[in-house]
Amino acid sequence: MAEILAVGEAMERALALLECGDVVAIPTETVYGLAGDATNGVAVARIFEAKGRPRFNPLIAHVADLAMAGRMADFDPLSTRLAEAFWPGPLTLVLPQRAESGIHPLVTAGLDTIALRMPRGFGGELIARLGRPLAAPSANSSGRLSATTAEAVAVDLGDRIKLVVDGGATPVGLESTIIKIEDGKLRLLRPGGIAAHEIEAVAGVKMMRGAAGIQAPGMLASHYAPGAAMRLNVGKIASGEALLAFGRDRAEGWRDAVAMRNLSEAGDLREAATNLFAYMQALDRSGAAVIAVEPIPFDGLGEAINDRLVRAAAPRDKIA
Ligand code: TXA
Ligand code: MG
Repeated sequence: MAEILAVGEAMERALALLECGDVVAIPTETVYGLAGDATNGVAVARIFEAKGRPRFNPLIAHVADLAMAGRMADFDPLSTRLAEAFWPGPLTLVLPQRAESGIHPLVTAGLDTIALRMPRGFGGELIARLGRPLAAPSANSSGRLSATTAEAVAVDLGDRIKLVVDGGATPVGLESTIIKIEDGKLRLLRPGGIAAHEIEAVAGVKMMRGAAGIQAPGMLASHYAPGAAMRLNVGKIASGEALLAFGRDRAEGWRDAVAMRNLSEAGDLREAATNLFAYMQALDRSGAAVIAVEPIPFDGLGEAINDRLVRAAAPRDKIA
């Protein structure tokens, strides 16, 4: 079983494992990541192996600072502006990769672009100490819910990795927003921890939406799936269902739900994002065959929350 060490005591052990090409689960501000040296093909292969992830899905390379990012990718004025405004933080930029990036091709699945993000806190310090970028997908088995606590990581991956660094519950609770910069235009590849309108405000341009070319695994129809089936936008609970609630008004029949969690009593989307994966996991553990979900508004972080819910509810035979 994986050792669990608090952030205050984990740095040297994490560095030692990464130096010999091993993987480590680390907290970031979004969700826990399963990190390995992005320049080491063995380390990157171990990430895919531990997650059981389809090989064609490229990973995010996490950097410590803008100088390291600049060695990996070509920044134009727009991407520089976004990085300066939102890093460190839950924004991932997909940019043209530099030939001399040193990134192992398994990280980018052979693409000529690279996804870069600068995380807050322990991850950033770890990367600075290592001196090399870390490839880190979310620390969960492929297709399952992302982990927002060290315990959730240990339950899912504990028998496949040596160390989980415990930084407590992750503050954002949703993965980063991924945008691609193409010829001065922005495309939203995955809604996430920073709302689209915040990015548009800094960029001064609207984002294009919808997939173009490369499909992120977060874009597979079924992803983030709990064991239970999911029923969305419910106005009425059926017998035997668990309820994922939002706000003050309850769906009809809510008293009959076998278990209930409220993402945010106050109707606060930021709070709801933070609670989303942990509450889906809790309701899944209740043993209910179906998790019914009350309507969640689409504005701000509601876009990312609804995106995760729709994927969690998609037919499971669409898991790649
Ligand atoms: O918040 C996060 O982003 C977390 C934490 C750990 O940093 N990481 C995360 O990684 O969610 P992952 O691997 O689960 O999702 C990364 C997404 C995938 O959907 C992948 O396909 C996409 O980034 N991606 C990576 N490189 C790409 C590229 N060159 N072009 C398009 N999409 C890319
Ligand atoms: Mg993931």
